[in-house]
Amino acid sequence: MSAQIIDGNALAKKIRIEIATRTASLVAKGSKPGLAVLLVGEDPASQVYVRNKVKACEDVGMHSILERHPADLSEEKLLQRIDELNQDKSIHGILVQLPLPKHIDSHRVIESIAPEKDVDGFHVANAGALMIGAPLFRPCTPYGCMKMLESIDYPIRGARAVVIGASNIVGKPMAMLLLQAGATVTICNSKTRDLSAHTKEADILVVATGKPKMITADMVKPGAVVIDVGINRLPDGKLCGDVDFESVQSVASAITPVPGGVGPMTITMLLLNTLEAAERI
Ligand code: GUN
Repeated sequence: MSAQIIDGNALAKKIRIEIATRTASLVAKGSKPGLAVLLVGEDPASQVYVRNKVKACEDVGMHSILERHPADLSEEKLLQRIDELNQDKSIHGILVQLPLPKHIDSHRVIESIAPEKDVDGFHVANAGALMIGAPLFRPCTPYGCMKMLESIDYPIRGARAVVIGASNIVGKPMAMLLLQAGATVTICNSKTRDLSAHTKEADILVVATGKPKMITADMVKPGAVVIDVGINRLPDGKLCGDVDFESVQSVASAITPVPGGVGPMTITMLLLNTLEAAERI
C-alpha cells in the first residue's frame, strides 16, 4: 500500500483563493485587512518565515507591514510598539515572530498583544478560549493540520490521536483541536517512555518534535494518517520532516510531505485569522 499524499501546496492555494475573494469584498466595503509582523534580531530562519508571511498577505490583497528591529531592542520599546499597533485601526493582526532574544520576556510580549488582534492565538485569553471549546483564533499550525484532515474527510470523532510534542505553539493546541473534534487524544513529550507503544495505537499521528526522520515505519499503525509538522535541514542541504517519509508512506493511509505539507498551510491559516479579525470589526 502506498499512502495518499496530502498536498499542502494545493490545499493552501485553494483556501487562499477563497481568502482573496473575502478580502476583496471587505476592501469594497472600505476595510482592508492588515497584518503587522515584528521581527527582533537576525535569526536566518525567522527572516525567511516573516518574509513569506508578508508576501502571502500581499498575494491575497491584504495590507501588511514588516518591522525588523535590532537584536538589542529593549523589551520596553517592543511593548510600546505593540501598544501603538493595538490602537492602529489599519492593523487587524499582530504577529511577533518567535523566538525572541533572551533579554526579552516572550510571555510578557505575547500578553501585551490585544487578544482580538492575536492572530497567532498565543495570548492566554485565546489559549483559554480554545481550551473551553470557544476559540477566537486557532493557532495557525494546528489549524492547518485540522484543515488537512478535513480535506481527506477523515472521520476524527472517536479516532485515537497521538500528538508528539507538547509546545504551546503546536502540540498543546493541536491536542485541544483534536479533542474538540471528538478524538481520544494522547500527548507525548521528550520524556515519554516507550514512545512506539503510543504511536502504534494512533489512527491519527501528529509529529512535532524537531528531530529529523525520528518516526519510522515500525512505529506507525497500518492505515494511520500521519501529519508531519517538522521541518529540518539535513547536512546535504535538503529539507526533511520529523517522519521518515520514504518508509512511513508504505504503512500509512495518508501522509503530509515535507516540504509542501503543513508549512504552506500554516501561513494560509495566518491569513484566514487576519481576515476573520478584520471581518469582526
Ligand atoms: N515561530 C515559529 N512558529 C511560529 C508561529 O507560528 N508564530 C510566531 N509568532 N512565531 C513562530
